Amino acid sequence: MLSQVFSCAVVGLDGEIVQVEVDYNPHSLPAFTVVGLPDAAVQESRERVRSAIRNSGLQFPNKRYTVNLAPASLRKEGPAYDLPLAIGVLASTDQVPLDKLIGAIFVGELSLDGSVRHVSGILPIVHRAWQEGFERIFVPVEDAPQAALVPEIEIIPVPSLGHLVEHLYELQVIPAYVRDELDLAVPPDLDGLTDFADVKGQEHVKRALEVAAAGSHNVLMIGPPGVGKTLLARALPAILPTMTLEEALEVTRIYSVADLLAQDKPLLRVRPYRAPHHTISEAGLVGGGSWPRPGEVSLAHRGVLFMDELPEFGQHTLEVLRQPIEDKHVTISRAKVTLTFPANFMLVGAMNPCPCGFYGDPVRECTCSPAAVRRYQQRLSGPLLDRIDIHVEVPRVDYDKLTDDRRGEPSAAIRARVEEARDRQRARFRAEARLQSNADMGPSEIRHYCQADDAGQQLLNTTLRQMQLSARAYHRILKLSRTIADLAGCDIISVTHLAEAIQYRPRKVLY
Ligand SMILES: Nc1ncnc2c1ncn2[C@@H]1O[C@H](COP(=O)(O)OP(=O)(O)O)[C@@H](O)[C@H]1O
Ligand SMILES: [Mg+2]
Repeated sequence: MLSQVFSCAVVGLDGEIVQVEVDYNPHSLPAFTVVGLPDAAVQESRERVRSAIRNSGLQFPNKRYTVNLAPASLRKEGPAYDLPLAIGVLASTDQVPLDKLIGAIFVGELSLDGSVRHVSGILPIVHRAWQEGFERIFVPVEDAPQAALVPEIEIIPVPSLGHLVEHLYELQVIPAYVRDELDLAVPPDLDGLTDFADVKGQEHVKRALEVAAAGSHNVLMIGPPGVGKTLLARALPAILPTMTLEEALEVTRIYSVADLLAQDKPLLRVRPYRAPHHTISEAGLVGGGSWPRPGEVSLAHRGVLFMDELPEFGQHTLEVLRQPIEDKHVTISRAKVTLTFPANFMLVGAMNPCPCGFYGDPVRECTCSPAAVRRYQQRLSGPLLDRIDIHVEVPRVDYDKLTDDRRGEPSAAIRARVEEARDRQRARFRAEARLQSNADMGPSEIRHYCQADDAGQQLLNTTLRQMQLSARAYHRILKLSRTIADLAGCDIISVTHLAEAIQYRPRKVLY
């Protein structure tokens, strides 16, 4: 007898419907063949399916089964097919009612005892099932809260294969998962972060980070060791604007596929903050593997990628970063597949000015040779530096300031201004779903939205000539000054906004 069950695969960040066909032949010798490009995990899955069925008190007749996973062109990976495969076997051997399989999707890994286990990528799976018009989806119990982020489709949390069979026969019905009300008015939890108020001095650095956060611009902090660069970067998440629901779902989807979501927090509300170590591999940074997974640049999507000790990452790694910084996504090509992952992050770098760290420091003498200083700084190529809008020096803090007990401005106050500036951006880009912040603007939007007044235009022209700026740098200055004007609540970019943006440009030579 032939049975058909629907399941769903994850390709990149998207779900793809998979049809599981099981042909049972009771008059042949025992065999269990799976066709349709299954990977090793699917082959293993037949062993789990066999044990799970038998240990659930059901029959697994020792005859011939031919399983087809369609479409054949799709590579199916992972153990998420255990449950549909088991249901397919049971349907083909007349142990579940066929009419109950219509309009339903099954996903889940099986343990040998028949209990249903967590699978990754539930969010894109359920989203696709809903898009394709399926009425209900059977998922592992622990994945139900995440599945429930997709509205309308019925979510049935399945504890075990035995429970599922009883449910299908309506002997003991599993109640559909009841969705929690999504309360976006409750602010996300930012406890435990360093408050900007506790960072002494460095007022101009805090200002630079506020501008960066307001428009999602890239920043590089340069200064001697122990002055608070790492401290400031860690405090950054507390001043970032809250994500919209669309942004939150977009980020959650990436973490769902990367299997990095906590069960009790199905929706990520706080912008990602990723701080990879400088020994990270290229695949770890931009994504990869024979079946590509999102890398740090994608895990930092809509948030911050903090690269401490930036020159230590090595020239090759830093060059690999240029493409995602420019395109705001990464494309990974493998023999069998080309995938695209979003990677719209704010790059925050920190570095010492030289190997010993004290070049230019007024108190401690630098012990590096001029050639060593140059070599160190040249690890960051011109094109990479050009893509960092805000360069800010972080000097040694005066003893008086360090010991001063007065607190600075708290993060919450800074965040309020950042939120307001981001609201202005969202209102401006209402009609263009692609744009969330000023940093997302392309040349035509820059022409349209970044009008400077006469004095500003004059300053810009002079600077362009004097600093011999590239067209990219010119556009980046305009985008940055747009953010500075947004923080000031101004529609027109004036000379003061431009002057601030220009002084954040990298100097041609630091040494
Ligand atoms: N401006 C500052 N205000 C308060 N504490 C500071 C400041 N700068 C440094 N510190 C203290 O020194 C420690 C080291 O600072 P860190 O941010 O790691 O320096 P850097 O990254 O610039 O080398 C911090 O954890 C903090 O305790
Ligand atoms: Mg540091």
